[in-house]
This record gives sequence, C-alpha cells and structure tokens, in this order.
Amino acid sequence: MPRRKPAAAPRHGRFPRRVGEYTLESYLLHVADPEGSGPIVPSIPVAATYRAADSAHLAGLFGSILGADPAAARAVPEGAHAIYQRLGNPVEWLLARAFALAQGGESAIVFSDGMRAISACLSSRSHAGSEVVCGVPVYGCTDNLFTGALPRDGRTVHFVDLRDLAAAARLFNRRTRVVYCETLANPNLRMVDLAALKRLLVQENSKRHEEEKITLIIDNTFATPFCCWPHDCGPELREMIVVHSATKGISGFATGLAGVAVIPWKFWMQLFLHRKDTGGSLPAVEAHSLLVRSMKTLALRIRRQVGSAWQVARFLESHAAVAQVLYPGLRSFEEHALARRQLVDWDGNFSPGHMISFILKGRGPEEAEARGRAFLDRLNAASRVITLAVSLGYVGTLIEEPSSGTHASMPDAERRAKGIPRGLLRLSVGLEEPQDLIRDLERALARRG
Ligand SMILES: Cc1ncc(COP(=O)(O)O)c(C=O)c1O
Repeated sequence: MPRRKPAAAPRHGRFPRRVGEYTLESYLLHVADPEGSGPIVPSIPVAATYRAADSAHLAGLFGSILGADPAAARAVPEGAHAIYQRLGNPVEWLLARAFALAQGGESAIVFSDGMRAISACLSSRSHAGSEVVCGVPVYGCTDNLFTGALPRDGRTVHFVDLRDLAAAARLFNRRTRVVYCETLANPNLRMVDLAALKRLLVQENSKRHEEEKITLIIDNTFATPFCCWPHDCGPELREMIVVHSATKGISGFATGLAGVAVIPWKFWMQLFLHRKDTGGSLPAVEAHSLLVRSMKTLALRIRRQVGSAWQVARFLESHAAVAQVLYPGLRSFEEHALARRQLVDWDGNFSPGHMISFILKGRGPEEAEARGRAFLDRLNAASRVITLAVSLGYVGTLIEEPSSGTHASMPDAERRAKGIPRGLLRLSVGLEEPQDLIRDLERALARRG
C-alpha cells in the first residue's frame, strides 16, 4: 500500500471541522484512497503473516516496535504493521488514522470489539493495587467488568455519580489511576460535565508524578464521534482516552464487531504492545468494511438519525401513555443545558444523539415494567421497521428493555441504585422515515396492556 502523507489534525473548536483545507466529512470519504492509478479502494490484506526482504529487514521491523522509546511511537513506520496480523495490517493502520481524525484525537488503536478496547485501556492504565473511579451508570458488561474481573485482578473500584464531582474528588488517593465514564450513559443518557471533570483532573495530575497521573477514559459510543468531541470540552488533559464500541453507530451496518481507543501518542506504544501480547486486534476484513463503508457514511447517517430521534422523542413526550422520556434534545432533560454545550456535531450544531430512553405510565414500577414488556411484544409483532434487539447505532431502529437485555446481568437493586429504573425502554433510532417509526410506536402504545 503506498505511503500517504499524514493528514493535518482537525482544528478544535472551529466549524465545520476541517482537515487541512477540506471539511472532515469530505476528507473521511477519501482518507483511504490508494495513490496513483489503480483501484479506488484499498484491497483487503488477508495474509496472516508477511514475507520480509531479508533478515535485516525483519529485524528492523521488530526493532522499530520492541524496546522502542514510547516517545517514538509517532514514527513507527506503517511497514511495522505488516509483520503479522496480530500486530496489525495496513488497513487497520489507515482505519486508526481515520478514527483519530474523526474523534479529534492524536492517534488511535483499533480492537476486535468494544469490550476489548475498554479492558485493554483499563489494564494498561492501572495495575493490581490501584484504584479506579467509575461513573454510573455504564453499559452492563462494562459494569460487570468493574464489579468482577477488575477487583479479581486486584483493582479497587469505586462507583459514583459523576454529576457530583466533589464526591468523586473525595475518592481520589495516591493509588487512583483511572476515572471512567460514558458521555451519554447507557441506558439513561445521564451526562457528566466533561469540562469540569477535566479541570479537576488537570489540577489533580499537576500534583502527581507522570506514573501516578490519573487517566480519564471516556466511552463515547452513544454519542458517536459525530456528536461529541471530549477533547473540545474544557482544558487540555494529556491523560485522556476516548473509547468506542465501533460495532454501533460507527459501523452502522451491524455486520461485525469492532472497538477503538483514541489516545495521545504518549500512550500509544504501551497500548499497542498490550494488544500485541494479549490479542484483540481487528481482523482485516472488518477493518476494511469500517474504512470503506462506515467511516465514509458516518456523518450522513448520524445526522439523519439524530434529526429523526428528535422527532420521535417529541412524539413520545407528548403521548398520554408515556411517563418520562430521557433525550438530551428535550428541554425536560435534566442536563439539557450541558448537552447543548457538550453535544456539538462537525458542523457546530447541537446534536443530541440518536438514543432515547423512556418509561410507560403505570401504578408503580411493576405495572410500568409489565406495560413496557407488553408494548415491546406488540411492537415487535406488528412493526416491520422497529426491531426488538440489543445493540444500537444500526441503520434500522432497535428497541430493548435494559433490565432484561443489555443490563440483565446486574442485580436488580444495583441497577436501580445506579439510575436504571424498572420498565425503562431504550430506543436506537435508525434511518427510517420518522413518520413510519412514529406510526408504529403510536399503534403499539394505543393498545395498552
Ligand atoms: C456504551 C457501550 N460500550 C461498550 C460496548 C461494548 O461493545 P462491543 O459489543 O463492541 O464489545 C457496548 C455494547 O453494547 C456499549 O453499549
């Protein structure tokens, strides 16, 4: 694959977001174009291993990775990612560059799925004996990671509502290494003031040696890189990672799993070596699909999905059978003012995402839950365009009940304590005509069980 000139990083805080003289949106359509005459998309490198020119060449490739000065990560040649597939391949290298540009970060590493990206970042930024502070709620499997595997591996985990930053700060001690949160929490869309959190961590880290600094890990899956750039919120925090399940809105087509961590160069080598030694690289076929389909259509898809979600949220809020709608675009949303500052798309517009959560009315939580389940079953039986399924960000609309789906593995009481009420339903709005979605929702709501 021909070597391409590295793109200039997008300029923060300016709209539309640009890469050099092009808008980011146009640039991503061509980020992987091979140079010269020939195919207009890169080919898929299927080989598990690569032939070296001679032993000095192979030694040189390994030498450029192993034992390299972490500060030299930026200079790791593309060729070093063509040794063996677990180390990487040229297509995932291009994809990582596209992710970094799309999310406004310095560099990125791609993974086989979102949980691999999250667990690799947590493992590489903390160690046995260290402490982690996790905002609530988070995706069910992430919550399980924090209550299960991490404590088993010797980390102490504190859960806290990060809307109360003073409470979070009281948990910090010399062993604290990571603060973790989601930009739009799964499933109740709760938001954390990222600028204030980053200010707190900049201040805290200014008192610490490099190896004791706290890393902020933010899962931006619900918002997608199109609706939120954590790097743009508040001061620069050098110790920040933005992770995604790229299986969701980034992919859009639900044809495979992927994850990504957008990281500063200073973390790159450590995370890259972690993936080399523990596995979890992204198969080339997946990377290719994300690069030539998903990244090219990300802005187009999400812009439309957000517009439709807004209409659907307003409809749900106006319906007599609905008790509460959680959507950052609604004035009734608790963190609406924060959402207006934090959820800003590549054009500079307020972009409150494509995820909506809501609860039906009932005399008490049990009835609301029973009505919610009956509604889901009616919808699933009658609607061609709204599908009962976990996952999100798909081009088709998906609906699920977190307590029996994505968050089923959490004990009931813990779910409620972390802000996930009984009967909560979660809707991921797709590309359908919003009127079709509203009609099907209305029909299923009308026959209350
Ligand atoms: C917010 C969030 N983060 C991470 C993940 C895990 O992603 P994956 O399924 O790609 O491992 C999910 C999955 O639903 C999610 O919703």
